[in-house]
Amino acid sequence: MKDDSFGRDASCGRDPSRRRDAACAPLPLGALLALVLGSLASAVLTVGTAATFLMALMLTAGEARAAQPGERAAAAPGAPAATAARAAQVAQTAPSGKAAAPRHDPALIARGRYLVQTAGCNDCHTPGYAEAGGQVPEKAWLTGDRLGWRGPWGTTYPTNLRLRLAEMSRDEWLRFARAMQPRPPMPWFNVRAMSDQDLTAIWAWVKAMGPAGEPAPQALPPGQAPVGPVVMFPQ
Ligand code: HEC
Repeated sequence: MKDDSFGRDASCGRDPSRRRDAACAPLPLGALLALVLGSLASAVLTVGTAATFLMALMLTAGEARAAQPGERAAAAPGAPAATAARAAQVAQTAPSGKAAAPRHDPALIARGRYLVQTAGCNDCHTPGYAEAGGQVPEKAWLTGDRLGWRGPWGTTYPTNLRLRLAEMSRDEWLRFARAMQPRPPMPWFNVRAMSDQDLTAIWAWVKAMGPAGEPAPQALPPGQAPVGPVVMFPQ
């Protein structure tokens, strides 16, 4: 037997004797409403899913843009708030510009380690580094040295940077590194010439390693004889 679209027996209308039959009862208003609402809801769900998918696409595109080195992540005007918020979050982890401290970025920390090693910071700020041909465990890097440097400026000792930077925020470090002018033989001019990104990387590595060691000895004024070993510059 063929059914109509409501699942009722097609013979219901034609056969008066079947009017009282449960299968032939007219569809109640509630059921009709449920049907209409049901199809509306699935339409809304379909549109919602499409919107979510689109949003995900836009976010991915935004991230790809923000990940470009040196580029500030800026959301296009009129972009959805969620995209802007996500872009701002990505900017914080991007090693660029004036974004907030990206101290847990593994790539940035690795870059900092590389710079500490190749820019020569270990040569003076890590005990025994030059003498050992660089074979000093990473955990001792930049802990300062008791080997003094004596010249017309007196005697200076390479600062324990693991302690010195421990309390500095990234912005404090950037300001400090750009303004400092320690005594020789510290090549402060080389540090000042570094990009924000490289300075941030060094900071991130120091922060990741954490504080260690003892403060270096106090510098001595010219004319005061040092007690421990020194490297002599012409006086
Ligand atoms: C040739 C040795 C030498 C090298 C190389 C060197 N430093 Fe230094 N650094 C020193 C000495 C010595 C001092 C202490 C100067 C003083 O007491 O005035 C110092 C001081 C500093 C200070 C100042 C700390 C303070 O509290 O004032 C910072 C920061 C610093 N060094 C960072 C670095 C970084 C980063 C590198 C690598 C790019 C580096 N240094 C390479 C010898 C060196």
